[in-house]
Amino acid sequence: MTRGRATREGIPTPIMAQYYAQRCDAGLIISEGVAISPQGYGWINSPGIWNDAQVEAWKPITKAVHDHGSTIVAQLWHMGRMLSPGVTNVPSVAPSAIQPPGVAHGPHGKSDYPTPEALTIPQIHQIVKDYGIAAKNAVKAGFDGIQLHAANGYLVDQFLRDSTNKRKDEYGGSPQKRLRFLKEVVEEMIAAIGAERVSVRFSPNGEIQGCVDSHPEEVFIPAAALLQKLNVAWLELREGSDDASFDMAGQTHQKKLSPEIRKVFHNPLVLNGDYDKESGEEALKLGKADAIAYGRLYINNPDLATRFKENLPIDTDIQPTSFYAAYQEDKTSGYTDYPFATKK
Ligand SMILES: Cc1cc2nc3c(=O)[nH]c(=O)nc-3n(C[C@H](O)[C@H](O)[C@H](O)COP(=O)(O)O)c2cc1C
Repeated sequence: MTRGRATREGIPTPIMAQYYAQRCDAGLIISEGVAISPQGYGWINSPGIWNDAQVEAWKPITKAVHDHGSTIVAQLWHMGRMLSPGVTNVPSVAPSAIQPPGVAHGPHGKSDYPTPEALTIPQIHQIVKDYGIAAKNAVKAGFDGIQLHAANGYLVDQFLRDSTNKRKDEYGGSPQKRLRFLKEVVEEMIAAIGAERVSVRFSPNGEIQGCVDSHPEEVFIPAAALLQKLNVAWLELREGSDDASFDMAGQTHQKKLSPEIRKVFHNPLVLNGDYDKESGEEALKLGKADAIAYGRLYINNPDLATRFKENLPIDTDIQPTSFYAAYQEDKTSGYTDYPFATKK
């Protein structure tokens, strides 16, 4: 989960090692979004993994996680049209030149998102290569693997869905053509680090950041079948949330696709979105998923899995003001200062 504790240059900071190490009772940690290139970087104080300084700064973080007995994958992120102006001076790019809705939060305050430039074919080929390089960098930095961030209205999602992809070439039009970018990126990453280290995240139902599809089942079921064919290690689905207070929730007007996806994707399937202990256990018991990913509960409860196991109280008092700390003096507050319920 993006927490905005890296430097303005996207270099991870030591406090991040402490944060992740505290959360090592999770069997697997999926990192916050990690930018693959300056072109994909547009969230203030988020980390990147495109240069040596960033790779070096990740090493103590992955080591801290391993020393505490857990595993961690890097979530590889290109934001496409969602860059906040002023984080860098690089123009935003997307499959099509369509301005995103909503308000960007950059170093110079709130503003509209600019209309992105439509990507040329050579630029698309370069981005595919950038994903492969970032995957290699992640392994160099000590990550156990990567998760391709293909959810939440960012670049891969912008290619997949028909509200944001109006291209008339081989990367747009039919669902099959909208899958092409995903396919090339995943193949590139598999060639770079092996399928057993590559996973993917989708958010197939509902609208997120203006990204929506009129027939999501026509895109995401073939997408899941494709990932099975490529034999990726696992697939995570963030399904729409019913929590109206959560502005990144995505609307639930489209039905959940996980039951259909489960029929075509046979490697481990991970579900996310609004789960608590009981609903998570229920989903596992019913065979809807092989694992559940917890987001917000892991902010407040660094030892969430232990609390679940031992029936200890769960802190559900989520504080959105501490989610991202770009403008706060004290970066630890609401980050590394949540107490453990149990002595470690
Ligand atoms: C502060 C915050 C940061 C997030 N950052 C990311 C991110 O970097 N990548 C991502 O895929 N999802 C991100 N999300 C979405 C979460 O991964 C998750 O899908 C969402 O919180 C729903 O799960 P939950 O109900 O368990 O919290 C973020 C959510 C929050 C609240």
